[in-house]
Parts: sequence; structure tokens; C-alpha cells
Amino acid sequence: MKATGISGSPNKKGNTAYSVKYALSVLEKYDVETQYISLSGMDINFCTGCWKCQENRNCVFQDDMEIIYEALRTSEIIILGSPVYMGMVSGQMKTMMDRCVLFRPSYEQSLELEGKIGCGIACGGFRNGGQETTLQNIHTFLLQQNMKVISDGFPYSHAGATIAGDAPTDETGLKTIENMMMNVVKMVV
Ligand SMILES: Cc1cc2nc3c(=O)[nH]c(=O)nc-3n(C[C@H](O)[C@H](O)[C@H](O)COP(=O)(O)O)c2cc1C
Repeated sequence: MKATGISGSPNKKGNTAYSVKYALSVLEKYDVETQYISLSGMDINFCTGCWKCQENRNCVFQDDMEIIYEALRTSEIIILGSPVYMGMVSGQMKTMMDRCVLFRPSYEQSLELEGKIGCGIACGGFRNGGQETTLQNIHTFLLQQNMKVISDGFPYSHAGATIAGDAPTDETGLKTIENMMMNVVKMVV
């Protein structure tokens, strides 16, 4: 069983990085193999809508998305963390998600990520800063891949995992991450 966690923040050591690593550390206690990826500094082109990926599931760009394609293909659990930017996912996360159109290339072929477990983490500077709308962005992406979207579960059970402000000291936020990971453990580990 493998989990990949991706941070969509430009900050290598910021709140999103901390939160995604924290989520992976919970799974590691249950012997899940983990891979952490930061989009910071990665060379990822915008999707140009050329639809060449329809033909053979290969993108015309040979860039760092190849690392991500491989990680997502080989994982049963996918955790996407984004900072809240203007109430939405970061541009880095959106660009990465757009390039994942390759996994659902045409109606005749299968959805490659179908059935995998997906979780979102949104890190905003403020409480009510747009964490829920950011999670909606992530959840919509996961649903379009026909993945199983997991929320933060018992005992809070709201929109998913959210951080407000400084991640390491946001005890309630970290609990939403823990609860979400325990939901995953209950399902598959
Ligand atoms: C361009 C930009 C837009 C932002 N927009 C929001 C926002 O709408 N709501 C919010 O709560 N925080 C907003 N923030 C603050 C970040 O979400 C917050 O500082 C977050 O913890 C950053 O994550 P990081 O440390 O992983 O980079 C914004 C920050 C930037 C740079």
C-alpha cells in the first residue's frame, strides 16, 4: 500500500509542506509506504489543450509531470495539499491538476486513477479564508478522476482537512488531518 502526498505551495518549508508531511506520518504508523512531492521549483508546463494525450496517454511535454504521473499511478492513496490563494487552490496545484487530464483521456478508455482514495488539505492564513472552497477545488478534481474522496471523519466530520495560520500550532487543524488519515486507515489498511 502506497500513499503519495503533494504540496502545491511554492514554499518548500511552509504550512502546506508541514501538513502534507504530517498526514503521511500518520499513515506511516500503519506501515503505508509514502512519497512526498513538493511542486515548488518543479518544471511543470500549463496544459495547452492539444489533446495529444488522448491517443496514447503521453503528454507532449516531457517535464516534471512525469515524476507525478509515476507517483500517482503507483499509489492507492493520494493526498493533495494546497495553500489557499484568493479562496482557491494555488496556480501550481491547478496546473498540476489540469495536466492530469491525461488520466482520463477519452470515453472509450478507462479512467486510470479510478477507485483510488483521494484526500484534500487546504491551508489558509485565516479562519474562513477560503479553506472550504479550496477543498471543493481539490475534491472536484478527485471526483472527475472517479476516485473515492475522503473527508475528515469522526468526530468532527466536516468538509475535509483544513489549517488556519501556523500549521504546527493549529491543534484543531492537525486533528482534522489525523481524523482524515484514520478514515483512510479504516478503509484500506
Ligand atoms: C497570493 C496569495 C493569496 C492568498 N489568499 C489567501 C486567501 O484567500 N485566504 C487565506 O486564508 N489566506 C490566503 N493567503 C495566505 C496563505 O494561504 C497562507 O499563508 C498559507 O498558510 C500559505 O501556505 P504555505 O506556507 O504552504 O505557502 C494567500 C497568500 C498568498 C501568497
